[in-house]
Order: sequence, then structure tokens, then C-alpha cells
Amino acid sequence: MQIGLLGYGTVGKAFYALCEEQPSLTVKSLLTRRPRGLPCQEVDSFDPIRNDPEVDLVVELIGGIHPAYEYIASALRAKKHVVTANKAVVCAYYRELVDLAAKNGVCLRCTAGAGGGIPWLSSIGRIARMDSITAVEGILNGTTNYILSEMTSRNASYAELLKEAQQLGYAEADPTDDVEGYDARRKLVLSANLAFSALIKEQDIPCIGISHMTVADIAWARERGLVWKLNARAEKKEGSVTAFVCPTLFPASTPEAQSNGSANLVSLYAKRIGKQSFFGAGAGGWPTASNVLADCLDISAGASAFYSDRPTTPLSVDNNGEQKTWLFRSYGHYTVRRETAAEALEAYGAVSEADPRALLAYLPYGML
Ligand code: HSE
Repeated sequence: MQIGLLGYGTVGKAFYALCEEQPSLTVKSLLTRRPRGLPCQEVDSFDPIRNDPEVDLVVELIGGIHPAYEYIASALRAKKHVVTANKAVVCAYYRELVDLAAKNGVCLRCTAGAGGGIPWLSSIGRIARMDSITAVEGILNGTTNYILSEMTSRNASYAELLKEAQQLGYAEADPTDDVEGYDARRKLVLSANLAFSALIKEQDIPCIGISHMTVADIAWARERGLVWKLNARAEKKEGSVTAFVCPTLFPASTPEAQSNGSANLVSLYAKRIGKQSFFGAGAGGWPTASNVLADCLDISAGASAFYSDRPTTPLSVDNNGEQKTWLFRSYGHYTVRRETAAEALEAYGAVSEADPRALLAYLPYGML
């Protein structure tokens, strides 16, 4: 297959190198803002790639919504397969891009968009074809996992660790997306939409990040044998989905608590196969590029338009229902309450008006 590669940043560079080892894949053209001196055709606009009948597959690694959306949509309309690591654009235009791929008889894949190097979305696609997935959840952001696990294991400040995560190439261009939970929420949307054949939108999922967390919060958890993680969860109910992204306290003995550094740990629950968990590098150039490559190889071996091609249902997010255990921290005081997610999130909104640095956390195992 002949590839038109868009972008030559951390992931683009690693993907280009990986392609050189694959006899079935050739990067014919590279869209780049500045010359790279590579033995492929380097172009500074998308048109030559779109109009080249020899390019079968466009790999979008420039990130952001625009012009990535225009390039992806235009490539699909030109009947070229598309692989992207860009969860923001696939989330924002999920229905439209999935439909465009099907209508034009080409494939769209974004496995690197959730879970970095873990074959998470591709596994959800496979499992959803033969079983009924009832929930997806986990640690889906490498930057916040790095910050929280390093805050737990050594005496370093939040600001210092965020800078380190940026230097290590884990963080998004705007790290607000990482620390406020928006990146994890996009990955949850992709996971849940694929798992439940749903059409959930980002803005429908309540999201609390880690930017309010303090050294005192870390110490409070440690004294109780608990460990902080940023967890994203979506559970299918009759006609709706419970979903939220929130700081979460796991007992120190659990696999989640022991998943440190930039690792991701994601799990799905299905009716017949039960719980399956996937652990691995959730961010970074090589792992992410490896999943991009895996998508290209799947397409070159002949794949369906989207992961499962099942009809999509417009399920709404409804956080009422089952009561769960929550921790509120306001003005340095910690309170544990049993409420539905909807009640806890509403109460947190009210608490935050008085104390803008207040924190809400989910306790999946209750208070030990
Ligand atoms: N900023 C993301 C993370 C990169 O930290 O997980 C991988 O999607």
C-alpha cells in the first residue's frame, strides 16, 4: 500500500521509521511544514496527496480538529483508507466520519487514539462482534497517571511533574486536555461508542480532572491504603449509559493502583467472557506509532469500514440509578457519602461554588 503521511512530529517520525521495516507499506508522500530531507515526496499542502491515485491510505498524525477533519473527510470521499491517532477529531465528528468511510467503501481506524500502544479499540471491536459488552473503564491518560504515581512515590510538585510529562512526550500540545480529564473523556467516548454501538458525545459526560489535587490528598489516601488514579467509566444500562471521568481511589493491592508511570490499564466487562484487562504504554512515540502501523497492516490485509460495522444507537448519558461511594474534599475536610453519580456531581457543583479548589473522588471499592 502507498501511504500519504500527514505530520512528522513524535508519532509521525516513529511511524515513518516503522514503515521502512514493512515490505507491504511505503510512505509515498509526506505533508510537512518544513523540509525533512526524506527519500519520499515532501509536500506542503494536502491536495497532491488527495489527488494522487497511487495513494491508497492516508495516515493523519497532525492532531487537533482543523484542518485534520477536512483532510480526513476529503481522503475518505476520495476513497482512500484513513488511519489516525487523533481522538479529538474522531470524537467530534464520530458519526459523520464512520458513515463517510462506510459510504465510500473504505476503512477508518483510530486504535492509537485510545490506549497509546495497547490494542484496546481493536479488541473492543473484535469482542463486540461476539459478545455483549456491558462496561468499559480504566486509566486512559498517561500524563495524569505519571503525575499521580510520581506524586505518590516521591516528593515532587504537581507543576514539576507536569513539566516532566511534557518533556517525556506524554502530554497533549495543550496539557489542559490531560489534567482536566478531557483527553481521557475522548478516549472513553471512543471506547464506549464502539463497545455499545452508541453515539455518545464528549460534552454529555461529566469530567473532573486532577488539577485540584494536593500533596495532602495523596497523604490522606496513603494513610488509608488507597492510591489516586484518574479513572474513566461507562456502563450500559437499559436504554442509557452511566458515564463519568473522575479522580478515583483504588486499594493499594489492586492492579489499577499498581499501574504506574505513563501506563494505561483498561478493562471491559462482557456477558459471556467476563472481565478482560489490557495494560501497557498509554503514550509516547513508539507505542502510539506501533498501533498506527497495526491499523495500516489490518487494512492492507482487508478490514471492514469501521471496527465492527454494527448499526449505531443514540444512547443518552444518565448518571441516576445505582448509589456509589464518593469522597468530597472542601476547605481541607474530607467527607464520604453514598449517592448516585448524578447526585454526587450536582453536590460537587454546589460545593465548588464555595470552594473552587474542592475535589470529588469516586471510591469503587467503598471506604475500607
Ligand atoms: N496525552 C496523552 C496521554 C497521549 O497522556 O495519555 C496519548 O493519547
